[in-house]
Amino acid sequence: MKVAIFSTKDFEKPFLTAANQSCQHELVFFEALLNEQTAVLAAGFPAVSCFVTDNLSAPVLTILAKNGTSLIALRSAGFNHVDLAAAKNLSLTVARVPAYSPYSVAEFAVGLILTLNRKIHRAYHLVREHNFLLTHLLGFDLHGKTVGIIGTGKIGSVFAKIMQGFGCNVVAFDPFPNDECLKRGVQYMTLNALCQQSDIISLHCPLNDTSHHMINEQTIRLMKPGVMVINTGRGALIDTKAIIQALKNKKIGYLGMDVYEEEHLFFQDLSETIIQDDVFARLQTFPNVIITGHQAFFTQEALTNIAAVTLGNITAFEHGNAEIFTIPL
Ligand code: NAI
Repeated sequence: MKVAIFSTKDFEKPFLTAANQSCQHELVFFEALLNEQTAVLAAGFPAVSCFVTDNLSAPVLTILAKNGTSLIALRSAGFNHVDLAAAKNLSLTVARVPAYSPYSVAEFAVGLILTLNRKIHRAYHLVREHNFLLTHLLGFDLHGKTVGIIGTGKIGSVFAKIMQGFGCNVVAFDPFPNDECLKRGVQYMTLNALCQQSDIISLHCPLNDTSHHMINEQTIRLMKPGVMVINTGRGALIDTKAIIQALKNKKIGYLGMDVYEEEHLFFQDLSETIIQDDVFARLQTFPNVIITGHQAFFTQEALTNIAAVTLGNITAFEHGNAEIFTIPL
């Protein structure tokens, strides 16, 4: 099948090409982001493959459908960037990669915790400057601390297991408690109770109507002073302006974020550009904030699985079989 691959990154081409050995689709790689201007590039392609930064709004989906596309194969687990109602009206099938490596994201969240706590990023630079003072590097033991997990699906449950390995008391909020977590002694509670009890809060739920800005002025007010917040979920789970206020008044002691509300900044080299986003710029001024550019998923295993499942979805769609991970519309 002819597939237009939008937002192709150099790092994923070899993985997609290798996975295609067994599928033999005709892959055409476009570096361009999919949007209203670039959607015409997909004219005549029955399948289009997209990344998290692509625009899959109703106008873009309409252009794709008009020009003969019938499958949107997402190269991601999250699908909050797709107008599913429009896809349904246009009879488009939307497939995704529901699980590619929960370990990649869970382990990265732990990396953010350790780095923020023990200030490894600062120590690296200090030692390179031959400054061996420990003055600004004081951390705390993770052992015995309470870690609150919001969303205990595939990633959250792996993260819970790792934090239990550190000797943390793990509590969670999820409308659908996970049996594995319950068996391992994770205690489920309301979001408010989790905010009140946790020393570290880590977000692992999808972005949807119930979770948008769930970390806001009200929930932050409930948190312990000096709490650590980690977000590897989606940027808009946090009201960024509210968390900046809480960083300024020291209610939030540490913030690690791999995702941001305005991710159009990410996945490109803007080192010679003047950043116009003042909220992002303000976040960068705090010594207790680490921002990474949506890299939590970025492991060899994850890229291998994303490529295999994406191409598998396209093959399954072509042959009309059930082995396709569609999003129910
Ligand atoms: P999953 O579907 O296995 O688990 C999500 C869990 O969140 C489910 O148990 C669900 O019941 C729960 N949930 C849904 N709404 C909730 C709410 N309002 N409050 C609390 N819990 C809620 O998903 P998975 O694979 O664990 O991924 C979680 C999220 O991580 C994805 O939706 C995606 O946004 C993000 N992600 C980030 C990546 C990165 O590179 N930073 C990579 C992959 C996923």
